[in-house]
This record gives sequence, C-alpha cells and structure tokens, in this order.
Amino acid sequence: MVFLKEKIRELVAKAATQKFPGELLDIKVEYPGDPSHGDYSSNVALDLGKKMKMNPRALAQELAQMIQKPEWIEKIETAGAGFLNFYLAPKFFEDFLDEVKKAGDDYGKSEVGKGKTVVTDTSHPNVAKPMGVHHLLSTIIGNAISRILAAVGYTVVRDNYLGDYGTQFGKLLYAYKTWGDEATVKKDPIPELLKLYVKFHEEVEKDEQLEDKGRAEFKKLEQGDAQNRKLWKWVVELSLQEFQKIWDRLDVSFDFIHGESFYEDKMQAIVDMGTSRGIFVKGEKGALIAPLKDPNIPPCIIQKSDGASLYATRDLARIQYWEETWHPVLMLNVVDMAQELYFRQLFEVTGMLKLTEARNLHIAFGRMRFPEKRMSTRKGDIILLEELLDEAQALALKIVEEKNPDLPAAAKKEVAKKVGVGSVKYAVLAQNRLTDVTFTWDKMLSLEGNSAPYLQYAYARAKSILRKGSEKRSGKMALLHEPAELALARLLPKFPEVVALSAAEFKPNLIANYLFELASRFSSFYAACDVLNAEPEVREARLKLVEAFTVVTKNGLKLLGIQVNEEM
Ligand code: ARG
Repeated sequence: MVFLKEKIRELVAKAATQKFPGELLDIKVEYPGDPSHGDYSSNVALDLGKKMKMNPRALAQELAQMIQKPEWIEKIETAGAGFLNFYLAPKFFEDFLDEVKKAGDDYGKSEVGKGKTVVTDTSHPNVAKPMGVHHLLSTIIGNAISRILAAVGYTVVRDNYLGDYGTQFGKLLYAYKTWGDEATVKKDPIPELLKLYVKFHEEVEKDEQLEDKGRAEFKKLEQGDAQNRKLWKWVVELSLQEFQKIWDRLDVSFDFIHGESFYEDKMQAIVDMGTSRGIFVKGEKGALIAPLKDPNIPPCIIQKSDGASLYATRDLARIQYWEETWHPVLMLNVVDMAQELYFRQLFEVTGMLKLTEARNLHIAFGRMRFPEKRMSTRKGDIILLEELLDEAQALALKIVEEKNPDLPAAAKKEVAKKVGVGSVKYAVLAQNRLTDVTFTWDKMLSLEGNSAPYLQYAYARAKSILRKGSEKRSGKMALLHEPAELALARLLPKFPEVVALSAAEFKPNLIANYLFELASRFSSFYAACDVLNAEPEVREARLKLVEAFTVVTKNGLKLLGIQVNEEM
C-alpha cells in the first residue's frame, strides 16, 4: 500500500532538491488541523526559508509552481506564513474506492515490519488470584497493539508471561495445607484460594513464624518436593481455566503461555553469567544485587540471601529465552505504569548483560477509574471482571431491544455480546493509554458519542444501505462533488497512514480517534446526501463511498479487537 502522504513528500522533495541542489533536506508532510486547508500540508518553505534566509511565502509559491502536479491532486495552495496545502482531486476517488473494495480485509495493511519479529508480553495475571483491572487493561491494550503491529507486517509472537511462581506460593501452599480442602477450592477456585492467601496474612499478624514456614514451603517447591509440585500444578491449572473464560470472552488468544515458572531452570545460568562478569555483587545482607549506573535508580535485586529467585531474575531469563528463540527486533511489556521503575532497572541490567539487541520497551498504561459505585467491588482494586462484562452486555441488550425489536432473539444476544465487550474495549483504547481511564456506562454505551456502539451502529447502518442498494447498481459512477461526500472520501486514504503511525507509537487511540472522525463524517454525509434515491450515477458513486466506509470501519475496529454487526 503506497501512502499518499509519502507520495506527496516525494513530490515536495523533488522540487526542493531542484531548487537547492546538494542540500540535506528533511521534509515533513502533515495533516492540516482544519480540513478546509486541504488534505495534506508541508511546512518545507518555512523550514527552508529560515535556513536559506528567504521569504517563506515567496519560496512556498515558487515550490508550488515547481512541483509536478499529478492528476490525483486537484490543487496546491500556499497559505499562512508559507504552508503548502495539497487537495486531492475528486477524480482520484474513482479508482481509489474500487481499490479499497478490492483490498477488502487487507486495506490498511503495510509492510514496514516485514521480516521482523516482535514479542509481546500481555495479560499476565497471577494465578490463585482474580484477574485484576490492570491485567484487563494489559489484555485489551496488548491485544490491540499486537494486531496493529501485525497489520504493518511484523511477525508477532504473543507470549503470556503468567504470574505462576514466586515466594507467595509458599504462603499459599502453607495456607492450603493448614486450612484448605480440595472440594471447597474446586467449587470456586480463585475466590477460595484468595481467601486462603488472605487468611495467611491475617495469621502472620499473630504469629510471625508463619513467614518462615511459608518460605520453607516455597523452598520445598523449588527443590522439587512431590506434594508441593502437585498442589502447585493443580492451582495453576484451576486458575488457567478461570482466566481462559475471560480471554475467550474478550476474544484474545496467545501463541504461548510461558509463565514465570517456565524460567525456573534457566535462571542459574543468568546468575552465574552476571556474577562471573562482576555485574552482580553481594549486597549488605548477603543478597545478590546489580548496582546500576544511574544513581537515581536503586540496585536491582537478583537473588535473596536464602538463594530464592526474584521477579527480576525470572524476567532476565525470559529476555534471554525470547532472544534465543525468536531473535526479535522488539520486545514489548504491556504493564501497569506502577512498574515503571522496575522496568528501568530490568532494562539496564539487560543492557549490562548484553542479553539482546532488541529494543525492550515498557508499554505503560494508567489506571482505570470507576466513578459509579456499582462498578467497583469491596476491595477497590480487584473488580470482578466477569461482572463488568456481564453488565455491559446486559445494558447493550437493552439498547438493541429498543432500537431493533424485530431482530430475532438469538441475533439480539449476539449483537449485545459484540457491543458489550466492544464498548469496554473501546473505552480503554480510545484514550491516551497513559492517562487514567474513567469508566462510565453512559459514555461507554452512548450511541451519539465516541464509543464502540456509535461506530458499530454507523457500520450496521451503512451495511443496510448497501443491502438496499445492491439491486440498484449502475456500474458507472459520477464524480463525487458534494462537500459532505468529499469530506468523508478524503479521510479514507489516511487510514493506512494512521495505522502505520499508531504502530510506530504504540498508540491504538490514534486509530480509535480516526474511526470516530470517519463515522461522524459518515453521519453528516448520510444526513446531507440521499443515497438510494439519487440519479443512477450519483447513487453508484455514493454506494461505493458507503462501501469503502464499511471496509475501513470494519478493518479499523478489528485492529482494536472489536467486532462489527451486519445488522443492529
Ligand atoms: N504478573 C505480573 C503482575 O501481575 C505482571 C508481569 C508483567 N510482565 C513482566 N515481564 N514482568 O504484576
């Protein structure tokens, strides 16, 4: 897919090189903030004017003259202090709309990542505990980013770094052996295991020696004690079954679930390597630590004084394993911003050990806020995700029943599922991921605002127009000419560019915002232009436009992990 933005950049570059041969030019093409200033714009004359001590407006005019204007550009205007504005020609859309249709599901894809691998670390809940809100966010954001990176050509390996290891399991094992029983846990695994864990912490208050007992159980687990191994495996299995239900509902999957325990036998090699190179040293209390260059970052602890491994030790082994297994160019950890400092430490140590040449990135995100009472649970942070999805789906069903009472019941349910889950995902993805996500039902399910249902509705409406128009196709189309038609059409070629930008910056919200703008323009178009009763050639043009809109909306939502409904 050739980006128009790139083509225009080349046209400008050619003219600028002609004017200033031998100059090193850094030419940028952007989207004007105000659509009446054209579809693309360049500030090259401002930049160069300054550098060459020339009047930027005069230079802009000169460059505009020099640029060899292809047919698909209607006009090039100079504006403001020296901007060059480009307007796409209505003629351009004749072929373009057909191309979009032909590309279908592939429209929006590109190839910067071709031949390169990215590994993503997403979701990663901790076993024996309910999936937390930050895990839900990681799942949703990580899924979107993985899809977006695949769309720009990367081979994406999704490896779920399940939290299935660590000293806390010693505590759980002790608690289970002391107060637990199989039947109760089996009936309602995660809440019951959580209860045991909480009980342990209550009892520690009374009896400090429990800490040591918990540690001893973990040690036994690490040393391969048969009973502890068996129990722990059982807990992991029960937890995975529960998590799987949520992953299924969210329509996400993983290529691998290499949890922390997978690295159990791969850590010693790292410890030895770091020690022999003098990167890991004995700290005050006999622990093994990696002091870091930056005095503002505390040393990274690699091994406890009793020899137990730590979170960081396992992560280092994971990075080494990823490197050896996939040789990726990028490793992404989609994790709560609360772990920011930790990842700085981890990546520093990774660099010191020279574990990989890949870019290691912490893709951080903010908190999710629930101003409405019924969304938060007793414990505040741990929200019952199933309930959140249930409620979203129930509310979505109400809306569908109101809007389309004639739809068969099964279809209504299916629509409600896609709308409910979609609205949760969209609420997360439409915002800058570093700001806190505020969750309110009204906004999330609004049919007028920036929400999944709004986009899904626009899509279903467009599909219904296409169904009605399918028998009235004339083949030959008139040129688009109405402002509302052109406003919608002009946004369509930007889609692959927006996808590429969102991949480069790991920002799904760029796609969400684009889709919202597109759907708004579709609504204005639909209000202003009659599609089905227009003259045959005008109708054909409008039907093609509607069709291209459906392709882009569907593909865009799919990148966000959101499904569309053909009817709503
Ligand atoms: N399971 C961890 C937690 O819930 C998150 C893991 C994040 N990924 C990583 N590579 N450390 O806090």
